[in-house]
Amino acid sequence: MSENLQKLLTELEQFGLQNDAAISERPRRMLNITRDTGEFLSVLVQATNAQRVLEIGTSNGYSTLWLAQAVQRIGGHVTTVELSEFKIEMAVRNFERSGFSEVITQHQGEAGALLESLDDASFDLLFLDSKRSDYVQWWPNIQRALRKGGLLVVDNATSHADEMAEFIALVSADPDFTTCTVPVGNGEFLATRFG
Ligand SMILES: C[S@@+](CC[C@H](N)C(=O)[O-])C[C@H]1O[C@@H](n2cnc3c(N)ncnc32)[C@H](O)[C@@H]1O
Repeated sequence: MSENLQKLLTELEQFGLQNDAAISERPRRMLNITRDTGEFLSVLVQATNAQRVLEIGTSNGYSTLWLAQAVQRIGGHVTTVELSEFKIEMAVRNFERSGFSEVITQHQGEAGALLESLDDASFDLLFLDSKRSDYVQWWPNIQRALRKGGLLVVDNATSHADEMAEFIALVSADPDFTTCTVPVGNGEFLATRFG
């Protein structure tokens, strides 16, 4: 990883922690993944050669940058969606500073509508880090958008286990998916599609 990106990621980590400690208003909090989750995503993208990555929940782009540096190495691309104009503007600036803008497509809007519009099997890896109460209703389109052999990664599987329970049970009961939860960061729920 370049020194420029290392510095930017460290700066964003410090900013996120300080900002979120000082601000209780949820729309203004960054709610970034942990560094080890970023490292984990980077390995997953490269190991599975996930060239088409979709992220739901950009915030200010911290996790997107981990995905972007990974897809750039394998000739891939990240699409990321975010509702908040305030956060999208922060992400645009962070992507410009990173030099990874070319491998990132930003969507402003409601992720449910984006998921609805996707072609079947259009993504190799989907990283879900948004409002947890939406996940169950999004599941049919998430399932559809993942190609066979594709991977779903969901943050906060253990930090917010109660809120995630219904979704995890739904995906785990689907015979087309093999699932596990790994103790990285806030707990990552993984589901791979084979059917
Ligand atoms: C946990 S934060 C994402 C953090 C980011 N992945 C990171 O680690 O840097 C969740 C984000 O999802 C966004 N969000 C919530 N509901 C959404 C929706 N229906 N469509 C798009 N974005 C949404 C929020 O505005 C928030 O920025």
